[in-house]
Amino acid sequence: MRMVDIISKKRDGGELSQEEIKFVVDGYTKGDIPDYQMSSLAMAIFFQDMSDEERAALTMAMVESGDQIDLSNINGIKVDKHSTGGVGDTTTLVLAPLVAALDIPVAKMSGRGLGHTGGTIDKLEAVDGFHVEISEEEFVRLVNENHIAVIGQTGNLTPADKKIYALRDVTGTVNSIPLIASSIMSKKIAAGADAIVLDVKTGNGAFMKTVEEAEALAEAMVKIGNQVGRKTMAIISDMSQPLGNAIGNALELREAIDTLKGEGPEDLTELVLSLGAQMVVLAQKADTLEDARAMLQSVIDNGQALEKFKTFLANQGGDASIVDEPSKLPSAEYQYELPAKKSGVVSDMVANEIGIASMMLGAGRQTKEDEIDLAVGLVLHKKVGDAVEAGESLLTIYANQNDVEQVKQKLYENITISETADSPQLIYKVITK
Ligand code: URA
Ligand code: CA
Repeated sequence: MRMVDIISKKRDGGELSQEEIKFVVDGYTKGDIPDYQMSSLAMAIFFQDMSDEERAALTMAMVESGDQIDLSNINGIKVDKHSTGGVGDTTTLVLAPLVAALDIPVAKMSGRGLGHTGGTIDKLEAVDGFHVEISEEEFVRLVNENHIAVIGQTGNLTPADKKIYALRDVTGTVNSIPLIASSIMSKKIAAGADAIVLDVKTGNGAFMKTVEEAEALAEAMVKIGNQVGRKTMAIISDMSQPLGNAIGNALELREAIDTLKGEGPEDLTELVLSLGAQMVVLAQKADTLEDARAMLQSVIDNGQALEKFKTFLANQGGDASIVDEPSKLPSAEYQYELPAKKSGVVSDMVANEIGIASMMLGAGRQTKEDEIDLAVGLVLHKKVGDAVEAGESLLTIYANQNDVEQVKQKLYENITISETADSPQLIYKVITK
């Protein structure tokens, strides 16, 4: 097989065989195929697309390029959830203990990653003593006993994806549905999930700016998953404004605790119940999404979800008393309000830019080496569609710096107050096939 023939075939709109795709992925991972040929193929795929079979083959070739996590010692159907990323996305922190409270095994492997706030692990590390450096044996034992554990990234997962993604990043080939879908799905499959729930975000704070693009990506991923034997569902949800009210690590942890108590923000609660219902159905604990939702609501109402969260924190060395006394969490030295400059209705809160404002406070990382300040961030008091009086606080800034003028300016520039506005739709589509 010659790489140049494979490139030409795709350039002319041909369909690559499974063997050809495997040849490309293995050859590129090993360094036998040079960057210039791989980038040429990525560009051909960008323009010519891939068939369902090609997408599945690419996904599995990337899965097989490295280690695959074996969760077979964990009893039950392991359902993983993936979000394409947004601002103030607290869902995993709530969902994990919530579905575990229904005895669904949550065996989560998490990385740190870059972004406006830290990843799930960073948020959990706001709890004194909590750690994810546990052995695989301990991880398996905890999930079997308590149905939930989180472990830091282990093993060499999908090296092909790491290399191809880095190349795409500098060759104008990131924004391709078959390449994004296979990239995301390969990581979930290598991490050992039996079934996968996807939260595909849309809006300015998301990767997919329009509902149509998000839908195409969601459908592509659901198809790949089901084709390779992992039941997969997706939700397309709004990321035109931040999700929930809190943006920042310890602040989001508090918000997660409130939500587990049934006292969380409406949008976060709704999204958690919708995603959770899909997880419950995929885990075969309920036949319909309606039944699943009622089951989730019951463990919120009877306190079992919150209890599960406490046990989870304690099992991994964390001080679970923070659940009843959140004031023990890291807290910022300064608080500043952001008063509305006029009366009206909030009509826009640009998610992406508000995320950058929280990053300016130190809540997120720009490079892997950056230190995160777990205490800082923002808590919104108004969301799009809410009425506001001039002078009333739009949000509170939690900072460890005594000059936040630039942050305030950034926030003012990205929050619009108009005469009227409706709240955006939260869930655009549920994809279950
Ligand atoms: N996120 C991924 O993991 N892969 C992509 O290709 C794009 C976004
Ligand atoms: Ca939030």
